[in-house]
Amino acid sequence: MKITWLGHSAFVIEEGKKVLVDPFITGNELAPVKPDEVECDIIAVTHGHGDHLGDAIFIGKRKNVPIVAIYELAEYINSKGANAIGMNFGGTLDYEGVKLSMVPALHSSGITESNFNHDGGLPAGFVIEINGKKVYHAGDTGLFGDMKLIGEIYRPDVVLLPVGGLFTMDTKLATIAAKWIRPKYVIPMHYNTWPPIQANPEEMRDELEKEGIKLVVLKPGESFEF
Ligand code: NI
Ligand code: MN
Repeated sequence: MKITWLGHSAFVIEEGKKVLVDPFITGNELAPVKPDEVECDIIAVTHGHGDHLGDAIFIGKRKNVPIVAIYELAEYINSKGANAIGMNFGGTLDYEGVKLSMVPALHSSGITESNFNHDGGLPAGFVIEINGKKVYHAGDTGLFGDMKLIGEIYRPDVVLLPVGGLFTMDTKLATIAAKWIRPKYVIPMHYNTWPPIQANPEEMRDELEKEGIKLVVLKPGESFEF
């Protein structure tokens, strides 16, 4: 499985099929690609904030691929003419061998459009499984106790955790989350995009390695394979 970071919380997760998660590209100066260059078979969006919904509707329409999101956000995406598949917590969508399980996140999820706020439903994370390999994309989230259960139930190989603080966990809380979830690898996300979310994920390395968890710090455009 190959995991490519497109900056912020945007990733391409590839194992035969390509899953694009939270494609915030336009407006992200650190994004290594343009929205019309991204290839994918399906798009997953964790919540309605602009730095996650991002270019999903544009790419979904251009590539004619479905966009998976929580029900209310899926309704909004459908109203914009893209093809969305709505789901909810505890559910798993099997799309051509890609299994997407929706799990909770501790955050908010309003959709702001021309100064009007839409209800985006609740914020989510996804456990993405292809050929028995599993990645947990935590979305935007604070630390919550059920992360232990998500680790226990889904046993992800890799977890993608926000570490930038202010809107999400910081490196200290993300270290606790990683120790609860117990993956083999942690890839930090949602940091250094803007000044309010500056972080140094290297602060997490020693404590995670004591627990046998490897920290993988990517630069935008870099990939990790396992
Ligand atoms: Ni958010
Ligand atoms: Mn965010």
